[in-house]
Amino acid sequence: MNKKNTKSIFWEDERVDGADKVTGKAKYTAEHNLPNLAYAVFVTSNIAKGTIKNIDTSKALALNGVLDVIYFANCPAVPGYNTNAADRPKNVTEWRGHKVLYDNKVRFFGQPIALVVADSFENANAAIRFIKPEYEAEAFETNFDKARLNPANLKPAVTYKRGSDTEVKAAASVEAEFNIPIEVHNPMELQATIAYWEAEDKLLLYDKTQGPKSTQGLMARTFGLPEKNVRVIAENVGGAFGSSLRSWSNVPAACIAAKKLNRPVKLVITRPQMFSLIGYRPQAWQKVKIAANAEGNFLSINHEAISNTSRYEDFREGIVDVSKFLYACENVNTKYSILPLDLSTPIWMRGPGEATGCFALESAIDELSYKLKMDPIALRIKNFTAINPENKLPFSDINLKACYDYGMEKIGWKNRPSVPGTLKENGMLIGYGMAVGVFGAGKGAASVRAVLSNDGKLLLECAVSDMGPGTTTSMSKIAAEAMQMPITKIKFKLGDSDLPPGPSQGGSGTTSTVGSAVDLACKTLQLRLKELAIGNAPGFNALTTDALEVKNEMVLSKADASKNIDIVSLLKLAKQDKIDLTINSTGKTPEQLKFTSNSFSSHYVKLAVNPKDGKIKVLQVVTTGDAGKIISPKTARSQMLGGVVGGIGMALTEKLEIDHTTGQIMNASFGAYHVPLHSQIPQIDAWFVNKPDMNVNDIGAKGIGEIALIGFAAAVANAVYNATGKRVRDLPITPDKLGFAKAKA
Ligand code: MOS
Repeated sequence: MNKKNTKSIFWEDERVDGADKVTGKAKYTAEHNLPNLAYAVFVTSNIAKGTIKNIDTSKALALNGVLDVIYFANCPAVPGYNTNAADRPKNVTEWRGHKVLYDNKVRFFGQPIALVVADSFENANAAIRFIKPEYEAEAFETNFDKARLNPANLKPAVTYKRGSDTEVKAAASVEAEFNIPIEVHNPMELQATIAYWEAEDKLLLYDKTQGPKSTQGLMARTFGLPEKNVRVIAENVGGAFGSSLRSWSNVPAACIAAKKLNRPVKLVITRPQMFSLIGYRPQAWQKVKIAANAEGNFLSINHEAISNTSRYEDFREGIVDVSKFLYACENVNTKYSILPLDLSTPIWMRGPGEATGCFALESAIDELSYKLKMDPIALRIKNFTAINPENKLPFSDINLKACYDYGMEKIGWKNRPSVPGTLKENGMLIGYGMAVGVFGAGKGAASVRAVLSNDGKLLLECAVSDMGPGTTTSMSKIAAEAMQMPITKIKFKLGDSDLPPGPSQGGSGTTSTVGSAVDLACKTLQLRLKELAIGNAPGFNALTTDALEVKNEMVLSKADASKNIDIVSLLKLAKQDKIDLTINSTGKTPEQLKFTSNSFSSHYVKLAVNPKDGKIKVLQVVTTGDAGKIISPKTARSQMLGGVVGGIGMALTEKLEIDHTTGQIMNASFGAYHVPLHSQIPQIDAWFVNKPDMNVNDIGAKGIGEIALIGFAAAVANAVYNATGKRVRDLPITPDKLGFAKAKA
């Protein structure tokens, strides 16, 4: 019964789904096929607002392979589309957002107005241009910069006030306005749904979603079905960044078509449609005013923001929230309102709220540091707080100083010029910048099933999904450590609403929430194994569970390791082919609620600006995360790398362009919407404090996905200022905004 030491095995740093993903074995939503599958493509509006008077579908219907064209005039009734509560059955709720194919109204340019269904994608796609809608167009507004200036256009503001709002006597203050444009998620995988009515009241969906349970519940409530009659499969998700946190029009449209045609229907959002139909980070205007005394203590922070929403839904995010709690400051005022425009509804995008808010706050703090003639890191340390000043609770853990030490050392902060625009290398202006990121670290409820078989293998199941960060790897690692068994014998199954309920993957919460449930399931399993040993294994009957431990695939006496039995033998002895249990893990306990929990990050950028044309080249990046214990070093590092790439995009290249004379998105392609190129990404040093935060959960781990991005754009803007003396407060920082002479064409 001698087992070799498994320590090296359960810390093996591989992605458990890596091989399947790089070899194409892993299937994504649109790759699934069902017998008799039909293919659907959206026809979209080419006006921004108005009424559809008629849609001539006759030419399209006459084409080879076209099965149907569904639009408002022939769309079957959807229970959840019913606006009249009295007419809706109890288990039906009204569809939130745009009711696709339902009425003759156009609410934004590119809105789906009809669905062509054909026997192949090609035939469906080819039919689109034969469909002739007639509109009655109306006046519309898509111009945020213009519309926000009229207060009557804004929804009522949400305000927060702490301390005094009277002018405090300050040694230095900064007041500045910041703008970020609309950014789109642009994940690799296209949004897609396959809908199949297995029976009149039984729906099977393959759907690209960050939340199989959330989609299941929503579609059950929309079509008036018992939840158990809806199954949602999302085994692999090829990136989402928040865009798959809600069901967009593709889901009901596929369900409607599948029902009408009585066959399974696949609907894949095209790449251009990915820019208008699955949300975006809203455009935002912000004004930040910070005042400090001569020592650098913040005396007051005022943070005001407006972001856009659609005309038919309110979308808000926590843009100004960071100013309430990240730094010690007695007097804080915030004000946030939303501005409805004739656009589709935004959605959370990586670092929602904080990514926007930190750009303004962390830029303003940098500006203030120059006025105070203080190092910007020293200024942040001066205003450090271990107690959240908003709710007065201590942070469960906060190690920003360790992040600063690492970042300063590795980026070469000592070389940073204290006077901007004074450091040159090879004719290039060189600058250093840094900024901080922060995001809430929650812990919610989740259920996990654990099945330990008599072949020694452990299967864990939860209905969470994985949009790419590597959830199956991190959960397997948590189980391997809790069970003290090799990760190679563990399988974590997710992405199916039939599995025990779990959260949507969002808000950097999966590791904390589902990981805590995995940990609890494993501990429960260990207890069962100990009880089984006491009841069945020779020489164990006098021992208590406390006297036993489970490790190296054995149950053994803590006092005498020679008294042991391996798990496989134990299950056989007890005549059990498996132990099968499901546990329910709760949200934060009363003890955990005595703290306020966040993950933190700090980012360091060294860049070069060409004084001839203003072109910016990021030379070096150091990014640091303070997120508790790092479960999976490889996938955690990948999160940080992705955050840096997204952050460089936010800072330097990304902007959705809208033609406000038509309402049309002008750069709805990867060619025209600029995400950073490989050549724009330097070597990235990603580092973690890697200190368990045992106040947040029993595994000591917090989330990484959001803090990887949050603050990064400010670090770049601050470095650009340090290099050039030019402060750009409107993203992206394109060469023209630096005002250097233009390069000769
Ligand atoms: Mo994230 S924006 O919570 O997917």
